[in-house]
Amino acid sequence: MPALPTSLTLGSLRVDTPVVLAPMAGITNAAYRRLCAEQGAGLYVCEMITSRGLVEGDQHTRDMLVFDELETTRSVQLYGTDPAYVGKAAEILCAEYGVAHIDLNFGCPVPKVTRKGGGGALPWKRGLLAEILEHAVAAATPYDVPVTMKTRTGIDDDHLTYLDAGRIAQESGVAAIALHGRTVAQAYSGAADWDAIAALVAHVEIPVLGNGDIWEAADAIRMVEQTGAAGVVVGRGCLGRPWIFRDLAAAFAGEQVATLPTLGDVAAMMRRHAELLCRHMGEERGCKEFRKHVSWYLKGFAAGGEMRRSLGLVDSLSALDRLLAELDPDEPFPIAELGAPRGRQGSPRERVVLPEGWLDDADGSGCHVHEDASETSGG
Ligand SMILES: Cc1cc2nc3c(=O)[nH]c(=O)nc-3n(C[C@H](O)[C@H](O)[C@H](O)COP(=O)(O)O)c2cc1C
Repeated sequence: MPALPTSLTLGSLRVDTPVVLAPMAGITNAAYRRLCAEQGAGLYVCEMITSRGLVEGDQHTRDMLVFDELETTRSVQLYGTDPAYVGKAAEILCAEYGVAHIDLNFGCPVPKVTRKGGGGALPWKRGLLAEILEHAVAAATPYDVPVTMKTRTGIDDDHLTYLDAGRIAQESGVAAIALHGRTVAQAYSGAADWDAIAALVAHVEIPVLGNGDIWEAADAIRMVEQTGAAGVVVGRGCLGRPWIFRDLAAAFAGEQVATLPTLGDVAAMMRRHAELLCRHMGEERGCKEFRKHVSWYLKGFAAGGEMRRSLGLVDSLSALDRLLAELDPDEPFPIAELGAPRGRQGSPRERVVLPEGWLDDADGSGCHVHEDASETSGG
């Protein structure tokens, strides 16, 4: 068995542990990235922003480009379907925001995105994909900023795109490719296909990052051992469990650590999360944002419905403190939750919504795909 990777190299960027926080719309803001980074080393990617939004100076897009003062490696995921916009946006990220890494999103399964040929539908157009990647790489190279891409295995089982995408990424100068082992049709349902990750590793020379269904640090090690991936991308497994990054860093350093926080420890983490959100967004919005994390933090703990409801309506840090003080700090971690999926799962799509005739031509060079400047749906 090959030795475990201990670090990750993306072009000129070296990451101390081969672990990446998956970009997640509405989740991986500056506060959450800092919270996770306080737990372990790794690369922490910002929520997706759109190229058009950035180039056109859309305020909402600019507002999302906030970084914590301790965030020394700024990593941003960019969405785009127009090579010129993507190039310009990459240039802005490098020149004005000092980013150290740009990831391009080609995996979004949301119907309103695939309907226009964007997200996970786009890699079907191999020529267009190459143009987008080339523009991004050309814009970022003078700044020595690596560009990576993140994609799915394909549109559905009959229209797989990942091997071609890997080859095109490599030919375009992309530094690494992250593969979520599901098709667009699967959305988040079923199991991620780790064999596809292994097949991509065998197909390309650039680093492949494996993504999908890492619920514990041990899963990450298993994925890397099974696939030969250069690193892992962790999404839903860290929802309500930022300490998984501590376990992941330990695992890639050769130690087996499974952090089992008591409810008191979890309450302290919730407080820290809320505090960071409030620091970055102000107390009102920060508390509102925090609410969506409550059920993930409390998953499997005995906290009753009334308590969960109240936490789900929390509107100030002092109210949060009062509620958290009512939790039993000694309640042990619900070990039945270990290894269990969390976050969205949903069901597969019967049919992926695509533009008329999309599958008839697999090149699409120069073809125009409409991009919404305010697209925020993500993955
Ligand atoms: C709430 C949520 C938002 C997401 N947003 C994005 C996104 O903006 N960009 C992206 O590439 N993937 C996005 N994803 C997909 C994840 O990055 C990841 O590929 C997927 O969840 C599979 O990994 P996991 O099994 O570790 O969760 C999102 C996933 C979730 C659950």
